[in-house]
Amino acid sequence: MTTRHVPAAELHLHIEGTLEPELIMELAARNGIELPHASLADLRAQYQFTDLQSFLNLYYANMSVLRTEADFADMTRAYLARASAGGVRHAEIMFDPQAHVARGVPLATAVNGIAAALAASEQEFGMTTALIAAFLRDEPEQSALEILEDLLALDAPIIGIGLDSAEVGNPPAKFVRLYERARSAGLRLIAHAGEEGPPSYVSDALDLLGAERIDHGIRSMEDPALVARLAAEQVPLTVCPLSNVRLRAVDTLAEHPLPQMLAAGLNVCVNSDDPAYFGGYVDDNFAALVAGFGFDADTVATLAANSIRSSFAGADRKAALLAELGEWRTQQG
Ligand code: HPA
Ligand code: ZN
Repeated sequence: MTTRHVPAAELHLHIEGTLEPELIMELAARNGIELPHASLADLRAQYQFTDLQSFLNLYYANMSVLRTEADFADMTRAYLARASAGGVRHAEIMFDPQAHVARGVPLATAVNGIAAALAASEQEFGMTTALIAAFLRDEPEQSALEILEDLLALDAPIIGIGLDSAEVGNPPAKFVRLYERARSAGLRLIAHAGEEGPPSYVSDALDLLGAERIDHGIRSMEDPALVARLAAEQVPLTVCPLSNVRLRAVDTLAEHPLPQMLAAGLNVCVNSDDPAYFGGYVDDNFAALVAGFGFDADTVATLAANSIRSSFAGADRKAALLAELGEWRTQQG
């Protein structure tokens, strides 16, 4: 069975996490920025993570090469090209506005650069997209509120908000006002929870923030009552297997809870999170699952269907993608 081109939606993707080392070096040269890592090999040697924070340190440092609208557009176009080659037909893409503003890049530069590439995506790659502003949970809520107002004042083409960065010690309760404001502005609501944080962060993201979708959510498996709830409510969980291995949320892929999550009837889908850092795009994640767990075509199709149904795409687009997935399944025999 080939899973390379299963048509799917990618719902958990940080666009800054798609900056491949080669592009980092290229943008650094273009912008006259001296990186602490002199060569591509030096830079690549940094990609050994022990946990979420050790990854975030490099992720934020590497963003320093993003200065102009063209930088953001080039990064985004490179992702769209690579993801569409791997079967992604619809992508809901997060970016970290605070991380750019904090280093002196105007909000409009980041937004306009990313949005320009997304606006051409359907024509260039046949891929529909949406943009989501993710807020850094290790920063104060007030900072997020201010940036959200700035995004709204700019009329930025965002469909929703998310919550990312260092999870433990920064619970959903810290962001109740932010999510209230976003809801009143008509935005969709998602949040990272249960990646490194405890199961209570998942229930609090649902109950205190009104999150419609949970990014990661793997630690939910530690709480049977929460698992039963997530199954009953069919809460979408955007799971990122290769990310979880690389950030040591699980020791090995073989110990990843995705098979148990499927068996428990959870609404899980497969995503790449930060593909330039974690060893692969959505197709690579599917390939690892097929190799590691022997997932058959029905299981792969279930995961892809979950991603399409859990997206914020319109009903017509979802129907078209589900039909495409049905054709793929038939071809698998
Ligand atoms: N987890 C939390 N925050 C992030 C991640 C992640 O995997 N990637 C980028 N910001
Ligand atoms: Zn993430």
